[in-house]
Amino acid sequence: MSNLSASLVNPLRDPADRRLPRVPGPCALVMFGVTGDLAQRKLIPAVYDLAHRGLLPPSFVMVGFARRDWGEGEFIELARKAAQAGARTPWSDQVWQRLADATRFVGGSFDDDSAFDTLASTLDALRHSHGIPGNAAFYLAIPPEAFPTVLRQLERTKIASNDEAGGWRRVVVEKPFGTDAESAHTLNALVDDVFTPQDVFRIDHYLGKESVQNLLALRFANTLFEPVWNSHYVDSVQITMAEDLGIGSRAGFYDRAGATRDVLQNHLLQLLALTAMEEPVSFSAEAIRIEKLKVLRAISLPEDLASGTVRGQYERGWCLGERVLGYLDEKGVPADSTTETYVAVELGIQTRRWAGVPFYLRTGKRLPHRVTEIAVSFAKAPHLPFSQTDTEQLGRNQLVVRVQPDEGMTLKFGSKVPGSQMEVRDVAMDFHYGEVFTQSSPEAYERLVLDVLLGDSTLFPTAEEVNASWCVVDPLEQHWQESSPKKYRAGSWGPQQADELLERTGRTWRRP
Ligand code: BG6
Repeated sequence: MSNLSASLVNPLRDPADRRLPRVPGPCALVMFGVTGDLAQRKLIPAVYDLAHRGLLPPSFVMVGFARRDWGEGEFIELARKAAQAGARTPWSDQVWQRLADATRFVGGSFDDDSAFDTLASTLDALRHSHGIPGNAAFYLAIPPEAFPTVLRQLERTKIASNDEAGGWRRVVVEKPFGTDAESAHTLNALVDDVFTPQDVFRIDHYLGKESVQNLLALRFANTLFEPVWNSHYVDSVQITMAEDLGIGSRAGFYDRAGATRDVLQNHLLQLLALTAMEEPVSFSAEAIRIEKLKVLRAISLPEDLASGTVRGQYERGWCLGERVLGYLDEKGVPADSTTETYVAVELGIQTRRWAGVPFYLRTGKRLPHRVTEIAVSFAKAPHLPFSQTDTEQLGRNQLVVRVQPDEGMTLKFGSKVPGSQMEVRDVAMDFHYGEVFTQSSPEAYERLVLDVLLGDSTLFPTAEEVNASWCVVDPLEQHWQESSPKKYRAGSWGPQQADELLERTGRTWRRP
């Protein structure tokens, strides 16, 4: 279609203008595991928020699937409570009522053929009742062990087939995708067998965070940073994701995953990829993927894994003024568990841009507070025309991208202290999202659920990215197999060995 005829069809909408709100066509969102933590805390509130913002199509239906002997009413009540508790936007009975009217529930276990037959007929009926021409996304908010059963059911009932449906059919798979490269490969083969590869959306909710996307704007919309974004100017990079929370009620999942599979393999490596990637030729999903993948494949592990990595496990202590249990005392955790709740690693990136620059990644539960940030530390000036005492208080220039909770950016540099003497000291320039922009950022899941319904896969890692990330993590897991994690006190910044990891190169962790 020529530009002219395109504008005649819809004069208000230029498809390249991404400032305009994008609303998907008529569709259904089917959620498996609706009674679980993820659906309750994140997905249902995200659907409500999208409805409140007017970003769902008039013909939208939310379908819940769970092993419960429920009618629609019970599910709607559960969903209302979840939406009311977790919604970001103000509560509106009117918005909720519209959503509730368009909510369906199918009860049954994942191996129950008749429940999936009912799901198929429920979706079919939406053609006439809601004018939904076969478009549906299936969100697997379920434990990874259940993926194969559900996928086979979707295949058996032909629910997954675009052709049968006469519309699009997409699947959303939560991370961690597999438990190592091999299982991820098997899972990929299974998912690709049931859905067409471009209809598979792997979720890493960090990519839906506004401040993570801003990293790309910061790097590629400005001239200021790119010239110094390389090994000539950067001394090292620290990527931190700290949580004050423990494992809550997720012992079953967490004790098998540990911090490495839960966070390092996905969130931290994705942050690293966005920080280190080359400029994409465009902002298309494909172009961004190509660059991220190059970085993930160029990651190198420390030569000596024993001194270049640290695993930790929290012991009881105090967190945010509250006495908290040690990991081994948490409900559901085996008393002899060697699962890590903290991990720190030094990685390299073997490219011309980054060779020689260490990337320090760390994540942990029960650390002093919740903070995620990327700190780029610059090299010291090659020559300082001051006496040594003038610059005693001068550290390294640093750019810190605060991913959460106080989204924004800090630039740290040296400045003269006022007075007749010459004394240069570190000062900071701050940008806070909350102060500059009036609208609050959408929740990551809000953005990602919308993107699934729109069919925009830019913010979703591909199978190749997932595989490249496992290739980084698998040797670490193998190396740690025989060892126990180092202990750290809940409320501290992790095991002392993590400090030593940096101290041996004369560096220290930031205390964000
Ligand atoms: C999840 C992890 O992916 O991210 C959790 O499984 C973690 O263990 C959570 O608590 C943190 O997310 P956020 O958005 O609160 O930083």
